[in-house]
Amino acid sequence: MVVAAGSGSRLGHAVPKAFVPIAGLPILGHALRGVLSSPGVSEVVVVAPAAHRGEAQDVAAAVCRDVGSHADVTVVVGGAERGDSVAAGLAGLSPEVEIVLVHDAARCLTPVAVVERVVAAVAAGAVAVVPGTAVVDTIKQVDERGLVVATPERSSLRSVQTPQGFRREVLERAHAVSSAATDDAGLVERLGERVLVVDGDARAFKVTTPDDLETAARLLGMPAT
Ligand code: C5P
Repeated sequence: MVVAAGSGSRLGHAVPKAFVPIAGLPILGHALRGVLSSPGVSEVVVVAPAAHRGEAQDVAAAVCRDVGSHADVTVVVGGAERGDSVAAGLAGLSPEVEIVLVHDAARCLTPVAVVERVVAAVAAGAVAVVPGTAVVDTIKQVDERGLVVATPERSSLRSVQTPQGFRREVLERAHAVSSAATDDAGLVERLGERVLVVDGDARAFKVTTPDDLETAARLLGMPAT
């Protein structure tokens, strides 16, 4: 599933983030290009804001035509928080799906190779898989006063991205307990299930600020529109 129901207020655009264009294609379209170009993906549920349901369907249909995908694409309406949107997406999956990827539309330049690595690791037996990259900064944990309480060993830290991949049964069990988390792997960790980190990619960064829009446009070789 691709979650695209956030408002993206930090981007400062009138339309929700997933519908802001980069080089002429909405962010959602770029994200779908990556997902639908992966031969392992047979079904995509797009989770969109209610007012953009039709536009999401049109964008998906255009990308399917463009990349020659025959995947089934459906659009459902998201919720107030990201976790609510993922829960809505889960409810929209067809019964036969056993491996589920949860992808942020905002990570719109995620290379197909990352999608395929995640699918392959779940297919090989992992119940939950997240792409991640090593962190370059030393990370401090602080308390509410800003005082440092811990300095985790940097070599053990990973900055995680999407798509995150799961055995469907495990993700559904996690969401049955609670959907409140900044990432779905966090919910699965709370169940005591093992979460595997595979190599992510710098291009899977999340478009959040106007600077990120420019970076994405530059990576696509075109000025932002
Ligand atoms: O807000 P943030 O950038 O962290 O959101 C990550 C992803 O989750 C985005 O692709 C956004 O569209 C999606 N989201 C959602 N429903 C929400 C909030 C965020 O689908 N209520």
